[in-house]
Amino acid sequence: MSNNKELEEFDRKVQNLLWLVSDQTIKRMNAPLVVDTKSSSDDLVTNVDQQNERLMRSQLMNIDPSARIVGEEESFRHQLDQNLSGNIWIIDPIDGTLNFVKQRDHFAIMLALYCDGQPTLGYIMDVMNKHLYHAWRGHGAYVDNKRLAKPVDAHLDESLIAINGWQLMKNNFQQQEIARRAAGLRMYGSAGIEIVHVLKGQLGGYTSRLKPWDIAAGRVIAEELGLIVKTIDDQPINVLSSNTVLVATKKVCQDIWQITK
Ligand code: IPD
Ligand code: CA
Ligand code: CA
Ligand code: CA
Repeated sequence: MSNNKELEEFDRKVQNLLWLVSDQTIKRMNAPLVVDTKSSSDDLVTNVDQQNERLMRSQLMNIDPSARIVGEEESFRHQLDQNLSGNIWIIDPIDGTLNFVKQRDHFAIMLALYCDGQPTLGYIMDVMNKHLYHAWRGHGAYVDNKRLAKPVDAHLDESLIAINGWQLMKNNFQQQEIARRAAGLRMYGSAGIEIVHVLKGQLGGYTSRLKPWDIAAGRVIAEELGLIVKTIDDQPINVLSSNTVLVATKKVCQDIWQITK
């Protein structure tokens, strides 16, 4: 398990790494992208997703040589089992790849460190707005060098909420009823960007079915601000599998759990 001195060093190096990857992403996205589909026509991967993950992985191997590193595009299947011991870095090299391809905007780069299963460091880079949201568990949450304030704990009917479009159409956890009871509904298409809106208090909550790399970083930052990160029906998140995640203020969670339980 890493000590504070080591974590401080990781934090400094990883922030530099994320600015580097962000700059490279902006340069590369102006050249033609190589786009492939994965499981379905809206599940895309580009050359930039792959290049970002490769660069992050190789730099992390220098920064924390004994850690395991998992990433969405290359290393997940080979590296994650049910064993959470030691340091695990979790990479989402572009979050919101569909936005990246269609809009060249509204996407993020995300990275997290879990130590013995404990969410410890989290980073969400809002590339086009050039802001890095980050937290070290127990040491506050920041945007760049500025400390983030805890969001106001408002109820669902006073809050805007974001729900993934497919989830809303399927209505598995009565998401349509949740949307009706909120002050308004928003959809941005990147878990990282949606979580940033919750961190800033612009949304009262966000829910989507998410894979480990979609929520790993946001969880560290959100929990550091006193926000709740659980499943939409009030269960703990399993770090290693897909969960229908709810990131929200305490009051929004209580209001939503009354609907889903
Ligand atoms: C996706 C985005 C999207 C969310 C999906 C994620 P990706 O990430 O965050 O907003 O609804 O569940 O998979 O694939 O673009 O990294
Ligand atoms: Ca993807
Ligand atoms: Ca993602
Ligand atoms: Ca991704």
